[in-house]
Amino acid sequence: MKRVIRFRLNERLYEEEIGSEQPALDWIRKTAGLTGTKEGCREGDCGACLVLLGGRGMDGRPEWKAVTSCTLGMGELDGRHLVTIEGLASGGLTPVMEAMLDEGASQCGFCSPGFIIALTGFLVSGQAIDPVSAMASVEGNLCRCTGYGSIRRAASILARDFADLPAGLERRLPELARRHVLPAALAQLMLEPPEPAGSQGAAFAAIHPEDPSLVDLGGGTDWYVRNPDPDPDLAPRFSDQAPGARSIRAGGSAERPVLELGSAVTVDDFFASPLVRNLAPGIERFAADMASPPIRARATLAGNIVNASPIADLTSMLLALGARLVLEGGPDGERLLELSDFFLGYKKTDIRDGERVRGILIPASPLRFNFEKAAKRARLDIATVNTAMAVTLAPDGGIASVRASAGGVAPVPLRMVALENAMVGKQPSAALAREAGKLAYDCGSPIGDVRGSAGYRRRLMERLTWAHFIRLWPELGLEKELLA
Ligand SMILES: Cc1cc2nc3c(=O)[nH]c(=O)nc-3n(C[C@H](O)[C@H](O)[C@H](O)COP(=O)(O)OP(=O)(O)OC[C@H]3O[C@@H](n4cnc5c(N)ncnc54)[C@H](O)[C@@H]3O)c2cc1C
Ligand code: FES
Ligand code: FES
Repeated sequence: MKRVIRFRLNERLYEEEIGSEQPALDWIRKTAGLTGTKEGCREGDCGACLVLLGGRGMDGRPEWKAVTSCTLGMGELDGRHLVTIEGLASGGLTPVMEAMLDEGASQCGFCSPGFIIALTGFLVSGQAIDPVSAMASVEGNLCRCTGYGSIRRAASILARDFADLPAGLERRLPELARRHVLPAALAQLMLEPPEPAGSQGAAFAAIHPEDPSLVDLGGGTDWYVRNPDPDPDLAPRFSDQAPGARSIRAGGSAERPVLELGSAVTVDDFFASPLVRNLAPGIERFAADMASPPIRARATLAGNIVNASPIADLTSMLLALGARLVLEGGPDGERLLELSDFFLGYKKTDIRDGERVRGILIPASPLRFNFEKAAKRARLDIATVNTAMAVTLAPDGGIASVRASAGGVAPVPLRMVALENAMVGKQPSAALAREAGKLAYDCGSPIGDVRGSAGYRRRLMERLTWAHFIRLWPELGLEKELLA
């Protein structure tokens, strides 16, 4: 299906007729001829293909993030701005490049454009500048020459030299131009995303819901891994082009308040939201358990759910938060479904022909929340198992309500209902943690694979349930008894 998109690449405005959802990586390298953006894994894992993606954020103001171009669809670019390594280098060496060179952080050089984009993305994204965040910004980048010590030193230099950057992009980007991180003309353009051509909307409206070539796309971080060379005939419908798709707002009634989240709310949007943080204080510390910064910038809640992986991290959290799905466009019109009822079997969901997730509702009563993920690597790894627990407390400190999830122990993400029933109405204690741990041990029907045996998964579920108790009730000091 042909349509016109308007976007900027570095300093040049393009109006392109596109007919397929090829990844932006291929267009940048083959059509635009900019080969500084490298193709490594083509699965979002290595960061060689990173580019800066700009547009308007949830508040309508300019927003910039480093993203993987191998999982970025061309149709997503309407009204957006891409910056590649060539765009940064057009004014000569930047301080980011100089820090990499001075520290010997580039050996064969294949990964270097990706690291430079990640570190530049860290400076332009508007976040606070400190050494820990600088290192975290390259968690999605791999260097096969293993130059990590020197890359770490380069990142620390940047964190030190740019610690005084102003917060808002309107002031930060001109300041970055003044210090030669960005060419001045490019920095000015980065504050003015191009107007979308808009033919996408008309093209998508024309798609018949029963068309088998119709595909809903969020950030593409699962979809492009499965479809690296998409069928030119497919008709994508982008979640973030629906009205309110990235909004998070308070709704429901006084008796039943809810948070209403649009389907294209990204992992970054979710953990940054003051409404989400008020609901589950401290929840933002679990953001780093999910993927890497470039993936979190694009990955959506709906994509995580519909992909239906039994070890999806966000799904595990949303199950414990009591999420319900708002589905639309199917034969039954709009319907509401408990998230736990959505999963029918391995990668099989109750999504019907033409149906899409429009949003997600979460009960808005404040709770204590904890998430645990066991994986072989501390970062950027698939979980062996994961589990989340959310509790509300009665005035006497007893457990008024509890929801607990388990991932990686069954073909679908689970609610641990027996464990929940055993906890309600009780006072939290080490004895209750042990009882709950036994029920978690017995939940599901885990299998053994490269990430661990069935027995190991059961034992993990038991011990991670103890971890829930220790972290949900730090004031009780349960670790002394449980870990003695
Ligand atoms: C390097 C890497 C690391 C990752 N690490 C993790 C991790 O640590 N934890 C984890 O849980 N996941 C991880 N993922 C998986 C992925 O990032 C998440 O599942 C993400 O939330 C998917 O969201 P998306 O918007 O990119 O989905 P997409 O790829 O856009 O879509 C996924 C599926 O959902 C469908 N879909 C999307 N939106 C809708 C909608 N509104 N209605 C109906 N169907 C829809 C699509 O058609 C597709 O079938 C990782 C992926 C990569 C590439
Ligand atoms: S090519 Fe490896 S992340 Fe895109
Ligand atoms: S310098 Fe060779 S891959 Fe990193």
